[in-house]
Amino acid sequence: MLNKIQFPKNFLWGTSTSAYQIEGGTKNDWSEWEVSPERIDHLSKKNKTQSGECRNLEDYVCGQGCNSYMRYEEDFDLAKSLNTNSIRIGIEWARINPKKDLIDVKAIRHYHKVLDAAHARGFKIILTLWHWTNPSWIAEEGGWANKKTLDHFLKYVELITQEFGGRVDYWVTLNEPMVHVSNGYITGKFPPNKKLHLLKANKTFKHLIEAHKQSYEIIHRHFPRTQISITALLNNFEQTHKWCFIEKIYTKIFHYLWNERFLNKIKKHIDYIGLDYYFHNRIVFYPPFRKNINTETTDLGWEIYPQGIYNVLKFLKQYNKPIIIIENGLADKEDKYREQFIKDHLFYVHKAMQEGADVRGYFHWSLLDNFEWAEGWEAKFGLFEVDRKTFERKARPSANAYAKICEEGGFDY
Ligand code: BGC
Repeated sequence: MLNKIQFPKNFLWGTSTSAYQIEGGTKNDWSEWEVSPERIDHLSKKNKTQSGECRNLEDYVCGQGCNSYMRYEEDFDLAKSLNTNSIRIGIEWARINPKKDLIDVKAIRHYHKVLDAAHARGFKIILTLWHWTNPSWIAEEGGWANKKTLDHFLKYVELITQEFGGRVDYWVTLNEPMVHVSNGYITGKFPPNKKLHLLKANKTFKHLIEAHKQSYEIIHRHFPRTQISITALLNNFEQTHKWCFIEKIYTKIFHYLWNERFLNKIKKHIDYIGLDYYFHNRIVFYPPFRKNINTETTDLGWEIYPQGIYNVLKFLKQYNKPIIIIENGLADKEDKYREQFIKDHLFYVHKAMQEGADVRGYFHWSLLDNFEWAEGWEAKFGLFEVDRKTFERKARPSANAYAKICEEGGFDY
């Protein structure tokens, strides 16, 4: 017997994107890194270790993206065809301030059109102000490890608030700040590619906290009733052997450093929690300290573990804030798992809600196959495929399944 999983009438159903990953034609610290000699050298070395098959370096350059800078109306129509009532989009800082002390009025005009177009389709709008990318001049001045970046960012926030604030329902000041701290300054996987630079990591961490808190004040000064948060990428850390004290300690430490530390610092400056869920980490006491069972994995080898979203939602209860799931999705080119993935995750979201979690919405990552950062174009996260040459969009079968869920506000499970 199937059960009906039904969400509340006013639940936000949406899709999630970021500016850099879809717009195309952007110049910022990421676009520069993608074609830097170090990056090309790294990818070429990676090539040689592959079994025969050579990687195409162009697959690691964002370039024209999904051409969404030109096709945003078409994208919003696609989102509408999914029966979603909300959309999460982003603004690219490097377009607004391509040079120090320069405001590009054409970019402002453009984003007015984008927000008007989203509004005209009746979407509730979640707007992201910063999704990891920085204007090149900011990077040249030392990026977020430099305190001056904070002042520049706050000027940008003031401007965006005044220009577009009336159109925004929910704000994301910073996307997954912990990912920038760790990939930018510890693993070196993302620009500015510093490895184990703990001092800079710590400065960046502090400046991002300040950036969020002060942005919160700025936005609320103009719009007292609007809703402001960050997106937090929260992982479900789980101890593997219940008898193992070391694992218990490790699990607590990982959970604290990754999930709790940033949130705790800003908890008085958020109106809701923006949750991104992708990862389950089964902690073991021996290196590399993580061993997942991986019964099913995505194209990127990430374990599919839907009950993890339930565990994370349970943890968030202590903050006593409404929660919006702003990102959840998978790389699945053949669309083998996506429909079931969505239903399984929503099942656990619903279960957590029945047990008291105040979840207000679910946004699938992503609307389109977009530029997946260091992984390039290989990872296909879209409900819609995008032809790399013509930019033609085509619905994957799971898009129809998601449209049905959004239309009915639930599904049989
Ligand atoms: C990021 C997205 C990214 C997605 C899939 C999230 O952490 O916000 O930009 O594409 O995960 O990796």
